[in-house]
Amino acid sequence: MTTPTIELKPSAHPLSDAEREAIMANPGFGRHFTDHMVTIKWTEGRGWHDAELVPYAPLSLDPANMTLHYAQTIFEGLKAYRRADGTIATFRPEANAERFNASARRMAMPELPPELFLAACDTLVTQEQAWVPGAGGEETLYLRPFMFATEVGLGVRPSNEYLFIVIASPSAPFFAGGVKPVTVWLSEEYVRAVKGGTGAAKTGGNYAASLAAAAEAKSHGCDQVVWLDAFEHRWIEEMGGMNLYFVYGNKIVTPELTGSLLPGITRDSLLTIARDLGYEAVEGRISTEDWKRGNEDGTLTEVFACGTAAVITPVGAVKSARADWTQADGQPGEVTMKLRKALLDLQSGASADTHGWMHQIV
Ligand code: PLP
Ligand code: COI
Repeated sequence: MTTPTIELKPSAHPLSDAEREAIMANPGFGRHFTDHMVTIKWTEGRGWHDAELVPYAPLSLDPANMTLHYAQTIFEGLKAYRRADGTIATFRPEANAERFNASARRMAMPELPPELFLAACDTLVTQEQAWVPGAGGEETLYLRPFMFATEVGLGVRPSNEYLFIVIASPSAPFFAGGVKPVTVWLSEEYVRAVKGGTGAAKTGGNYAASLAAAAEAKSHGCDQVVWLDAFEHRWIEEMGGMNLYFVYGNKIVTPELTGSLLPGITRDSLLTIARDLGYEAVEGRISTEDWKRGNEDGTLTEVFACGTAAVITPVGAVKSARADWTQADGQPGEVTMKLRKALLDLQSGASADTHGWMHQIV
């Protein structure tokens, strides 16, 4: 089967400059979408076809669309950065393409050729250049590639047709109000994922299953849920839509990939960036007792969360049904802020791309 090329069918009625600028003055996160989207169809026997850039518009779905019932749906999240030299680039999009296909395999969906994933993102960003916020701030154009079953019917089996779409949203960071440490809730009752389950896939059901725990966290005055392993309810896995890092002086540790947490691209990149900065960076196991004890004896100096949407966000306080504590002095730590700056500098073009991670589009 050949890889289709993307046909351009741009909107005759994009928003005016003034309308777009009004949105971009206060974009929030994931609330506004650009004028276009890229759509690509897949059907059994024919493969990927009908790749096109079209005006952003609602979809018409049959009530018996399989996704609405059985949730065969996956997504990715990456950002387009406007850099100081005027270019626009994404960060490690090949890694998103690869993870997208890992999610597809787990959900019994067809894989998308990585070059088509990249072409879809690049075509949309090229079309929507004016929607990429200015250089220097932390606002970016957030890209959301996703794929879902489109077959109509109530049989429980993989769909025989799918739709892949990329949409784009001018966005401020996920957490409004700058670098503000978050308070986290250790979820000892609900679990996010188990080994053998879908935790390592970026599939809608994982997020649906997280919402009751998020509501519980909120009722305890917390911003985010920290997920623990499903067997012993003691090993730290990840947090909401982010991975976690624990800082012990010059050593940083992130929970190892057990199969039930999402292999974050920011998490992976920070292992390298931290080593470049002279820190020891490792994957390991951290329990809730390790966290509490390390904080009490002062060996655990900082904790932060990382992800595409959230960048790097310090954890300032921890609560659970049995305990609560302030993480160190509750303020953003030095290592956290150093790594945050190194990551943002790389993405914005303020520092050299020594690992070849930036993918220039425009
Ligand atoms: N964990 C979960 C559950 C996520 O949804 C995300 C966001 O994509 C991450 C971690 C961080 O992954 P990345 O750094 O690739 O954005
Ligand atoms: C991301 O960081 O891209 C995420 O997917 C997090 C969240 C908004 C689901």
